[in-house]
Formats: sequence, structure tokens, C-alpha cells
Amino acid sequence: MEQAFSYRAGALCCEEVPLVAIADTLGTPVYVYSANAIRARYRALVDAFAPTPPLVCYAVKANHNLAVIRTLAAMGAGADTVSGGEILRARRAGVPAEKIVFAGVAKTDGEIRLALAEGILQFNVESVQELERIAAIAAAAGREAPVALRINPDVAAATHEKISTGRKGDKFGIAFGEAVEVYARAAALPGIRPLGLHLHIGSQIGDLAPFEAAYRRAVELVRTLRARGLPVHRLDLGGGLAVRYGAEPPFDLSAFAALIRGLTRDFHLELVLEPGRFLVAEAGVLLASVIYLKESAERRFLVLDAGMNALVRPAMYGARHAVLPLREPEDGEPRLAMDVVGPICESSDLFGRDYRLPRLSPGDHVAFLTAGAYGMVMASDYNSRPSPAEVLVDGVRWAVVRPRRDPEEQFRDERIPAWLAGDGAR
Ligand SMILES: Cc1ncc(COP(=O)(O)O)c(C=O)c1O
Repeated sequence: MEQAFSYRAGALCCEEVPLVAIADTLGTPVYVYSANAIRARYRALVDAFAPTPPLVCYAVKANHNLAVIRTLAAMGAGADTVSGGEILRARRAGVPAEKIVFAGVAKTDGEIRLALAEGILQFNVESVQELERIAAIAAAAGREAPVALRINPDVAAATHEKISTGRKGDKFGIAFGEAVEVYARAAALPGIRPLGLHLHIGSQIGDLAPFEAAYRRAVELVRTLRARGLPVHRLDLGGGLAVRYGAEPPFDLSAFAALIRGLTRDFHLELVLEPGRFLVAEAGVLLASVIYLKESAERRFLVLDAGMNALVRPAMYGARHAVLPLREPEDGEPRLAMDVVGPICESSDLFGRDYRLPRLSPGDHVAFLTAGAYGMVMASDYNSRPSPAEVLVDGVRWAVVRPRRDPEEQFRDERIPAWLAGDGAR
């Protein structure tokens, strides 16, 4: 497809819809997702592996809105989940249970029972204790749990410290050196059907070298396990494919697919991928309104109505999102350096310093690009500001897929205990 977000007749549009129409109708902050951009990403990924694409299990954590999951499910995607809540979301959005994988280091008994009852494709098991817990619960129910062992390949993913998951010291997965022993144990446990291996080394990985290092270790392990007579049918390679927040080169899908094909060619494995960010990040923007342009001799601050409560990635990971005004700047219109900040009472509520933007006035709108992943899912009620609404655009159509929650709704379920109730609180 053409660019999902582009200026048309002076107005930034999502597909055929001017974003200002959404901002004016619903107010801001509001996340806007392009259904066709999501579909195009899914198609590009699957096509890169033609004629034998892996099962693509969308990592629901990246954006768990039911409409987003449904858009991908309708294309044939499965779901990668990390909680009972995500399993329920995926099912509600229409993902068949037999396309759901379930990872996470802290699966509770209740979540294990739910996953078994739903009949999911596989548990991605992160520890020996978890393996034994699943075995006990499944055996007691007269069931066999399909299991892949999540291995920790001890590979540094060349990404941000907080989103690297495949090094020895990370909490995820079973140590590479212990994997054979644990796999053999899994094969001997009643209630467990060992199917294969899983790994996920981190997120926003643009360089193929860490993928290659980790995947090589995985196929080496497949060979060792099979040589021991242990059954290994499936290899779940996780997610982590990078997207563009700025001027980075696009992720090289065909090289990625060629790498995987080359490494797995001789093994006749069912392959699973779990991309999250790659499918949805560039398909989403966050719209915000200018409250003030605060200027002093020292600095210029563009003060917005969206902050770390709406999009925490800059404060949490030092991420930088490109910003575009919804009104296209005139040719030659001067750009001013400004620090873009939110309304939250924290110095870390800073989207970034020295953005170069045209002079903007209160009431103008801006869009943060590449905000479709790890945006709304991490939003909070901090400072009791209205939550962002969410909108899905599909061609000329658009719909609210989650309304804004105003403060009254945020505290509606809170309770003042009886012993405080007589103190004059309304
Ligand atoms: C097990 C697992 N799979 C897949 C993903 C998705 O990662 P990404 O959004 O980078 O593709 C994550 C993200 O943390 C994960 O923990």
C-alpha cells in the first residue's frame, strides 16, 4: 500500500481520513491505527517466506485492542500471549485456540488451567518448576499439555538494555546448558507432550547477526535432542523484528527469511514467529493537542495534552518518536527548535529535546509516529488525566475501538471504606 500516513491537500491523513477530523470529533489524546498498514505488514512477512510461511502468532502485548487483534486474526494470524488475560482477549477477538502460544515466567495455576481448557497450541515453558506445575495440573485433569521449552541462548541482542531478553542474566527461559536435561525430563513427565523449542531474544532488533547467533544455537540444540531420540517437531523463533522510529533502514525481511530458511532447511520443523512491534508499530500514531508554547530566554517547550501517561516509551526506554503537525507546513516555513513535553508532573515527561517544528499555537494538533506498538497498552491513569481513545481506520471508514475514559470513570470503581465515609466526602 501507499504510505499509511501522508499529507493530502495540506492535512495529515491516515489512509483516506484526515486526522484532524478525528481529533476534532473525539478530542485528544487519541491513538489512530491503520488497518491496511497492519494487513500490509502481515502480508509482507508471510510473502517473504512463501511458499511455506511459518505460523505468525501476533504478540498481543504490543497492542491488545480487540479490533487490532481481529484485523490480524482475519488475515490468518495466531496470537502470542503472556497471561490469561491475553488468552481471553485473543479468543474474544477471534483467534482460534489452536493458533495461540502462551509464554511468560509466572504462569499461575489458574492461567495454566485456562490455557488447557481452551486447548491452546503450546505452552512456552520458562523453568523446571513451571514444567512440573503444568505436568501436575494436566495429569490431574487427564490431559497432555503441548510444550515448547523456552531456551535462553545467551545472546546479546544489540538493543536497549530494558528490551533484551536472551542473555544469561535475563529472567527468561531455560539456560542453554541445561536444556537437554530439562527436555529429557519433560519427555518423561506424565501430562507433558514436548513438541519443540522456543526462544525470543529481545525487541527492536534491526541487525540480523544476533538472530543468526541465537537461531544457530537453537538448531544445534534440535540436532542434539534428536540424536538423543527426543521428539522435536516445532521451533518457535519469537519476535523482535525492528521498525523505523526515525531514519533507520527498513528491516530486511527477505534476508531474515533467507536466514531462517537456510538454518532450518534440513530439519523439517514447523516454524512459528511471534512479531508484535513489526506488525503494528508503524501502523499507529498518537494525536495530541498543543496546550501552550512556553518560551523563555533559555528554551522553548511545546506543551501537549499527551504525556508519559499516554505514551511512556520515551520516559521508559529513552525512545524518540518523530512528530508531525497535522497541518502540513508551508514550503519554506521556518522550523524552530523545541522540547516536546507532556502535562505530567515529572521531569521525565519529556518526549525529546530539540525537535524542529514550525511555530505551533494552542489548539494545533501533532502526531507522534510509530506509536502503534507498546503505546496504549502501557498507558496509565497517572495524574488522573483522561485516557487516550483508540480509533481504527480502514480506507475511508473509521471507528472508535476504545472510547476515552474520563476521570469519573477511572475512579468509579474505587471505594471509600465505611469508617471514612462520614467525613464529608461526596
Ligand atoms: C515471548 C515474546 N514473544 C514475542 C514478543 C514480541 O516482541 P516484538 O514486539 O519485539 O516483536 C515478546 C516481546 O517482549 C515476547 O516477550
